[in-house]
Amino acid sequence: MKTIFLTKNDIYKGHLILVNENYPVNENDVPDLKAVNGSDITLRNTAALQLDMAINEINGRSGITPVSGYRSMEEQRNIWDDCLIENGMEFTEKYVAKPAHSEHQTGLAIDLGMTCRHIDFVRPDFPDNGICGRFKTVAAKYGFILRYPSGKEHITKIAFEPWHFRYVGTPHAEIIEKNGFVLEEYIEYIKRFKYGKQSLVFRNEYEISYLAAGNYPLEDCNIIDISGNNRDGFIITKRGVAYER
Ligand code: DAL
Ligand code: ZN
Repeated sequence: MKTIFLTKNDIYKGHLILVNENYPVNENDVPDLKAVNGSDITLRNTAALQLDMAINEINGRSGITPVSGYRSMEEQRNIWDDCLIENGMEFTEKYVAKPAHSEHQTGLAIDLGMTCRHIDFVRPDFPDNGICGRFKTVAAKYGFILRYPSGKEHITKIAFEPWHFRYVGTPHAEIIEKNGFVLEEYIEYIKRFKYGKQSLVFRNEYEISYLAAGNYPLEDCNIIDISGNNRDGFIITKRGVAYER
């Protein structure tokens, strides 16, 4: 049985890290980047591969354009500053995260636009119908959620952004979508399932639980993923009974 050693600093790493106005990105977690959909936009390796697969499934390579993926701190600062000059504070706070507080800095977030002659960089068009609508129907299967839905602005503190997708991995994206959660709510919800005591069972294929931050050796061959939540602990995903023979 393999042993996984977790340390307190690992809570800042993984596909489920929560980055918002309260929780900044950890600058020590430098992402391993890959270009998406033949463009010069990059995402973290796994997220880029999964996005390409989602876009291929719907034959969306020409109809959907990656607009913005990974951003360095400097890029996020420039976007914030430029938007402030062009559009003012109220607009900027709605649509641009402050430097150090953008998911784009993790390499796990992508803005997608419907391909057209002029694509707005801050607010690309991504309608509910056509190829963009089809992307939305397959996104969760590939680990992506619509991160800033309408009606949850009071929690996310960002306006409705139909173009901004966040990679959280599977099966988390499907659970989030089925329950109508935003990431803030999911991270909070998972905390009731304490590792070793209780778990959230999904389709009998996965068991998900929460482990508070600390230094641990974990021995469990059924663990398929461990992610920090960038806040106070880990989310542990195990194979469920459907995988047992
Ligand atoms: N548009 C999102 C909120 C960002 O700037 O990260
Ligand atoms: Zn975005």
